[in-house]
Amino acid sequence: MNVGIIGAGFVGLTLATILGSRGYNTTLMDSNLDKINKIKNGILPFYEPKLKTFLQKALKHSLNLTTDSKYIVNNCKIIFVTVGTPTLIDGKSNLSHIKKVVGSIALNLKKTKNRPIIVIKSTVVPGTSEIIKQTLEKKLGKKSGVGFGLITNPEFLSEGSAVNDTLNPHVIVIGGIEKKFINIMKKFYQGFHKKNIPIITTNPQTAEMIKYANNSFLATKISFINQLANISQQLPGVNIDDVAKTIGLDPRIGIPFLKAGPGYGGSCLPKDINAFITFSTQLGYHPALLKMVKKTNEEQIMSIFSQIKKILGKIREKQITILGLSFKEDSDDIRESVSIKLIQLLLNAKAHIVVHDPLAIKNTKEIFKNKILYAKSIHESLEKSECVVIMTPWRQYKQLSDKDFQIMKKPIVIDTRRLLINKNLSVDYYATGVGK
Ligand SMILES: NC(=O)c1ccc[n+]([C@@H]2O[C@H](COP(=O)([O-])OP(=O)(O)OC[C@H]3O[C@@H](n4cnc5c(N)ncnc54)[C@H](O)[C@@H]3O)[C@@H](O)[C@H]2O)c1
Repeated sequence: MNVGIIGAGFVGLTLATILGSRGYNTTLMDSNLDKINKIKNGILPFYEPKLKTFLQKALKHSLNLTTDSKYIVNNCKIIFVTVGTPTLIDGKSNLSHIKKVVGSIALNLKKTKNRPIIVIKSTVVPGTSEIIKQTLEKKLGKKSGVGFGLITNPEFLSEGSAVNDTLNPHVIVIGGIEKKFINIMKKFYQGFHKKNIPIITTNPQTAEMIKYANNSFLATKISFINQLANISQQLPGVNIDDVAKTIGLDPRIGIPFLKAGPGYGGSCLPKDINAFITFSTQLGYHPALLKMVKKTNEEQIMSIFSQIKKILGKIREKQITILGLSFKEDSDDIRESVSIKLIQLLLNAKAHIVVHDPLAIKNTKEIFKNKILYAKSIHESLEKSECVVIMTPWRQYKQLSDKDFQIMKKPIVIDTRRLLINKNLSVDYYATGVGK
């Protein structure tokens, strides 16, 4: 079966690569020529563990790359749409990329007899599928439009584990109106996944809602545990990780996403919570809980900043090291990373900043240019600093010990992820969520 994918980001490239490596005749299209050329040459436009090996295999087998959707619309039975849906300034989800893609699919559909199933994988607010359907029908004229399929199939992968999540998703959601197309997609996934993965079939608007419900709950868990961490920090001896681990054992709660820290970031949770709050408000419903989840998250990085100020007394002219820039480990993605927000706050307070990250330096340079120093090693980043803040839980930072901090002008360690909590450091050590 010929499969087309439009949008070569984390979601689209991962899916295309895995399908291609498995022998599916896959064509990946992106409007960014530079990106397409890189991928053609086996170069990943971003870091994602394991993806390079799969890409090399896919390129040898059956992955084609293009900047033109014509071939896909003419030849593919299934077309996955995986373009970005960022938020607009007013908080609404920006559907312009989706609309552009749908427009060009419609244009090409007019000239072909092929009637593919268009599968929307991008995260879109409830009701978007209906808008897409009407747009397609309008552009095609009722008669010629008959026959194409439209399915909403939200994606749940996480950056840093995108390959594993694509190979072994916890669920597959297929939202559609026509049974025929739902069944084709069901068969497609059953053929692709050897294991029994739960497949939920529903209508498009419920499928769209499921994705926002999922991310809203994950963000709620993070803000909840961060609030508990802030309370715990006021209580000598209380350790938030023991609290989280224990409540997580209650099957009604569950352990994942109960890791206290500096707040959530990345390309999904902040934008999806924002879009969902705006969407709900427009419906006339005030989503009080979600608004507090968002506010709690925004306040969390402010509370780390206040903690630094309180510990250092004065920030102006002091050299501070930030360990970790990506929004999570095993990623070079700094979109909405709280490290970037903290650096900006510290720069506003006239601190001198030195940063280290195993992968995200290049992306960070695009934001801060020469306003901060970029260290090549952890050792170099600590030299002459008066405080170090551990932000991203990279495994390299877990190896640090007392002697690594001796090179600092003043060894003050603020560990927002509690990576070094069990090391009994003799330096001045503060762990987020642990009362001192
Ligand atoms: N990244 C994640 O972890 C993740 C997880 C689940 C769901 N999602 C959702 O999946 C969607 C894609 O996310 P992503 O992180 O892969 O996005 P991304 O920003 O990494 O990539 C999107 C790609 O689409 C391309 N594009 C934009 N307009 C185009 C057009 N008109 N024609 C062809 N290509 C076009 C861009 O050049 C880019 O390469 C979003 O809706 C996102 O919310 C993302």
